[in-house]
Amino acid sequence: MLVTSKELLLDAQKNGYAVGAFNTNNLEITQAIVRAAEAKRAPVLIQISAGALKYAGVDFLPMLVSKAAQIATVPVAIHLDHGPDFKTVISCLRAGFTSIMRDASKLPYGENVAEVRKVVEVCHAVGVPVEAEIGRIGGAEEHVVVSDREAAMSDPDECARFAEDGGFDFLAVAIGNAHGFYKGEPKLDFDRLTAIRERVSIPLVLHGASGIPDAQITRAVESGICKINIDTEIRNAFIRTMQDYTQKNPDQIDPRKVFGPCIDAMQAVVERKIEIFRSAGRA
Ligand code: 13P
Repeated sequence: MLVTSKELLLDAQKNGYAVGAFNTNNLEITQAIVRAAEAKRAPVLIQISAGALKYAGVDFLPMLVSKAAQIATVPVAIHLDHGPDFKTVISCLRAGFTSIMRDASKLPYGENVAEVRKVVEVCHAVGVPVEAEIGRIGGAEEHVVVSDREAAMSDPDECARFAEDGGFDFLAVAIGNAHGFYKGEPKLDFDRLTAIRERVSIPLVLHGASGIPDAQITRAVESGICKINIDTEIRNAFIRTMQDYTQKNPDQIDPRKVFGPCIDAMQAVVERKIEIFRSAGRA
């Protein structure tokens, strides 16, 4: 069933687990996410980035994901990941999104607040919750590319002020997490996360969770993270499985035969994450 992310994240916050937010670009990834969520009886967010909208069409991909959410037997929210501007937000609201991120974290503090407030006003008018970010998460996620030099950890006091000034519903934090594959072993700054948690009452979001060791994810959930974003590990499962299959079956030209094992591999990734996030059985 299609729901907003607010009800999902508030329940997660109350009961000490995190909801998985998984990125999609197409039919097969969407199927893998929904199948995993149903197999594990877990609520999920299906995320669409501006890059995915550009690739698959601003009408087509949301329509496909909305339908998948409506017929799913578990709660599913459709989320705009890293919303780049007001115009994209409006077209996503029109397309039926039930959760919006406006990422203006590259702007100076006052401009970030102003951009987020503008989005909060329209989203809240139609009952849609908003995620915002402060600090800068490193790495590359679609159009959001942040070099090591530009990456900046979220400051706990600034997080508190931002949540107050912005009036949004969920806060994405930069605590040593990065989008894409990590270069070395990621080390989340748990003291920083605890300090943010103490000062901010709304649900906290962890981006760039692909490649973070399970023990750190568990600790992040125990320290108050309520939404965890995964993209890279799903893509990796998709493409590696496809490469493997086509290498072993070079004459196969039926896309359904090629994509079948890819969907299974992506579903396995999502199911594993759901277990680690402790959201299995929460639907
Ligand atoms: P990864 O690609 O590192 O899994 O991050 C996904 C993400 O944070 C989307 O916003």
